[in-house]
Amino acid sequence: MKIISSVDELRDQLRGQLRTVFVPTMGNLHDGHLSLMRLARQHGDPIVASIFVNRLQFGPNEDFDTYPRTLEADAAKLEKEGVYVLFAPTEKDLYPEPQEFRVRPPDDIGNTLEGHFRPGFFTGVTTVVMKLFSCVQPRAAVFGKKDYQQLMIIRNMARQFAIPTDIVAAETWRADDGLALSSRNMYLSPLERQEAPVLYQQLNLLAATLRQGGTLTPAAIEQAESKAMSTLRERGWLPDYVSVRKQSDLQAASAADLAAKAPLVVLAAAKLGNTRLIDNLEI
Ligand code: PAF
Repeated sequence: MKIISSVDELRDQLRGQLRTVFVPTMGNLHDGHLSLMRLARQHGDPIVASIFVNRLQFGPNEDFDTYPRTLEADAAKLEKEGVYVLFAPTEKDLYPEPQEFRVRPPDDIGNTLEGHFRPGFFTGVTTVVMKLFSCVQPRAAVFGKKDYQQLMIIRNMARQFAIPTDIVAAETWRADDGLALSSRNMYLSPLERQEAPVLYQQLNLLAATLRQGGTLTPAAIEQAESKAMSTLRERGWLPDYVSVRKQSDLQAASAADLAAKAPLVVLAAAKLGNTRLIDNLEI
């Protein structure tokens, strides 16, 4: 595996390589990331992975400075997964001058849910993903469903900008007790780690309620969302949202959407101690 930090060197290495499949990450790799590499491998094209902790997507009070940087251990894991090139630029490599041009997602999808609680987050994500796509020029790129809204925004961006990269969705990788794997799980204390699967359990309970109820109405959905939020609060969580949305555009479903059986997804974000966890479940 070649480890490359400069954009020019990356271009030299990939010259003539017409088909690559790309897996962008921020490093601190766990089994969830490795499952993305395995899905990428099924494409049969050389895998380019990236590791870059992207300052643009962190808010002023978020964990940019303390975000774990574990390049050596990550590189060893990627090598084992058969990755062809690891692109690990420094900030100077990727942002040699202030990144003043930005890619801003439309408000309806960019400012709701995560976008509401983390202003500017998705602009930071789409800007870096656009730039990484421009460096790597992959035929396909893999993103996890764990970051459901991110996946949808990137998919819409690729379509609207006619980016010649297929966006491939990977299922969320979970621990045996159901907790979605995330780099931020390492911030949980042992007691919090025991409690953490409750978020996914609540999503499952909510989904079961909605699946079994007869005719689904916006009011029934609202009631199920509130119930899940109160249960989390009672158990000491600070939920930002538990929200049922349409899979197609992540907007709330109207009575007409529900009558037409629009596919739904429930998304949640909640703080447990100092750690903010997100998860989702397609209904
Ligand atoms: O999901 C992530 O790890 C990041 O948001 C991404 C897509 C690598 C962009 O920095």
